[in-house]
Amino acid sequence: MKNEYMKATALAPSNIAFIKYWGKKNEDLRLPVNGSISMNLSNLLTTTTVEFDPDYKKDDVIFINDDLDHSVGEKRIITHLDRIRSRAQIKVKAKVVSKNNFPSGTGLSSSASGFAALTLAASRAAGLHLFEKELTILARLGSGSACRSIPDGFTEWLSGNSSETSYAISIYPPDYWDIVDIVAIVSDDKKEVSSTEGQKLADSSAFASLRFSKINNKIKFLKQYLRVKNFTKFGELVEAEALEMHAIMMTSIPSLLYIMPESLKIMHLVKKWRTEGYEVYFTLNTGQDIHLICQEKNRGKIYQLLSEISEVKQIIVNKPSKGARLLNEHLF
Ligand code: DP6
Repeated sequence: MKNEYMKATALAPSNIAFIKYWGKKNEDLRLPVNGSISMNLSNLLTTTTVEFDPDYKKDDVIFINDDLDHSVGEKRIITHLDRIRSRAQIKVKAKVVSKNNFPSGTGLSSSASGFAALTLAASRAAGLHLFEKELTILARLGSGSACRSIPDGFTEWLSGNSSETSYAISIYPPDYWDIVDIVAIVSDDKKEVSSTEGQKLADSSAFASLRFSKINNKIKFLKQYLRVKNFTKFGELVEAEALEMHAIMMTSIPSLLYIMPESLKIMHLVKKWRTEGYEVYFTLNTGQDIHLICQEKNRGKIYQLLSEISEVKQIIVNKPSKGARLLNEHLF
């Protein structure tokens, strides 16, 4: 059996979480302690082609322009292919070719775009036609944050209490609000502790239970600020949330210090720029790269200010974007 439908290609965006996912209540199912909210990013993209072919003797995973990054390693990808094969009731081996248009493993959530693209491409190549909800559940099993890269625009991952109830939905389309996420890449060093490993320590922080007890309220406020498009309240909450997640990381046992000197310098500058009238807020995940959130009208100024900083190696401007989608052109 060798059919064209056994090959498919998908493009998926990375996403930036406004309310973060840090801590699981079930490791195997990747059920998060709390729900999270994010925006898909138009310019941080993974493209993946998957082909199942009876002639392949083993699964083959190739990354173009990149080394295998430890957060999206080969073993995790093959485990994900096995999930999809078992769903489609096939045993055929696959060739997977994937490329990112941005450096992986530096906190830019390549596992989110990577597992979203892999889930869509592999499930379609395996002959499955899944609804969006099922795709988000499957993507979540590969990497939690990947479920938020499947639906369009601004998305919410409902934490749920079982695999079927933990999925992501679109809460607003990409053109809902013209905010911009400007990413400053300050280094291409890989992080030392992956987010999967780091998250296992969340509960060891003395502040974890306090965070988790207040998080649903925070989600409620963030959704309210999004609804009324109150950029100031929204930005203040997004920045405070990033700092709170890093407080949990720093007070874990052992501690996790993801914030590097270059990111810290930019965090201080962002606060200074605000006092000078440029409204911008920062957020950052498990790496040194930092995301600056501003309104479209301030994009040019923030870009210029960032480009004057010697530590900034690359700047990537993102608008809210569609989620994962199929492409007609394959990578091989
Ligand atoms: C800090 O989704 O990479 O970016 O489910 O173990 O693959 P796994 O973790 P992952 O964690 C992302 C953590 C974060 C916050 C967020 O994106 O919500």
